Amino acid sequence: MSLQGPAPKTDEFWLFGYGSLIWKPPPHFDRRIPGWVTGYVRRFWQASQDHRGTPEAPGRVVTLIERSYWEKLADHHDSAPDKVWGVAYRIIPEYVAKVKEYLDIREINGYTIHYTPFHPATGIDPALLPQHGPFLTLVYIGTPDNEQFVGPQDPQKLAEHIYRSEGPSGLNRDYLLELEKALNVLSPESGDEHVTDLANRVRAIAARERKRETGIQTDNAILSSQFPVVVSPEQAQQRHHHDFRRGSSIDEQEETEKTS
Ligand code: BEZ
Repeated sequence: MSLQGPAPKTDEFWLFGYGSLIWKPPPHFDRRIPGWVTGYVRRFWQASQDHRGTPEAPGRVVTLIERSYWEKLADHHDSAPDKVWGVAYRIIPEYVAKVKEYLDIREINGYTIHYTPFHPATGIDPALLPQHGPFLTLVYIGTPDNEQFVGPQDPQKLAEHIYRSEGPSGLNRDYLLELEKALNVLSPESGDEHVTDLANRVRAIAARERKRETGIQTDNAILSSQFPVVVSPEQAQQRHHHDFRRGSSIDEQEETEKTS
């Protein structure tokens, strides 16, 4: 893990989260402050082999791209908010070494450590902040030179990819939908079009898949009512058992969709 940018002057350790850290805080923090950083663009351009995918089938998670670099790229999502919203966590001083160790394990897979000024949202009690105005936070970034960096992707292909990916931390689509939800509650202006567009596409894919599943079911039901098959009581019993199992697996899938 490389260290880039100036280290903070304050003794306090503040960590900026713009992805899963927004809704999955690190251990041993005592303050969580919503706010934003500038000079970056958030994109689902980092392959995830260890959280939302596997080495054989990597998922996609967010990273920050330097805006000056991003402006030179051909991105299908050709605009991005000036402010990248997220949260800053203050780590309890006695636990800083332990948390850094934990984060090293959690955030590898291409991410490196950087420092960036964090702007607290308006209305935060100044007593909770290390100083007046912006302060430096540590942030994990998957830069374009890391092996997991994917770069610009067609949004529909990216959404399909996210829809079908899964890793040890769960479904990739849950990561996307949780991120959208977490951003929407930080501030009235913290939404991110890139995230929302992908989330809308993933919801449409989920609806399409549900329709496909239920469509097949309906066709079967129509077929069997048109061509009733005479079966023995034992076969009927077996069929009932089979249909019951099929029904419950569809219910389970619906449940996954609802919570994702
Ligand atoms: C984040 O939430 O900010 C984050 C999480 C894992 C890796 C990089 C960033």
